[in-house]
Amino acid sequence: MIVCHCARIRSSDIHAAVAWMRAADPHGLITPGKVYRALGKRPECGGCVSLFVDVLRADENTGVPPVLRGLRSPAKRRMK
Ligand code: FES
Repeated sequence: MIVCHCARIRSSDIHAAVAWMRAADPHGLITPGKVYRALGKRPECGGCVSLFVDVLRADENTGVPPVLRGLRSPAKRRMK
């Protein structure tokens, strides 16, 4: 399925980039911008953003790494 018509990115390209990024950095956060850079492309119109994010969210490798989960809660407690 074509996700981004401007940059000609398919959902399979996104999944391949995510797998490569996760293998290269198991603890890194994966964002749409990082996926574009990994693919050597740039967004133009932005019309694909919601679909792009949906495809990213559906990928099992884009979750927040366990080591980074729950980091916000202690800081919130300290501020109170
Ligand atoms: S469709 Fe993706 S930037 Fe235009």
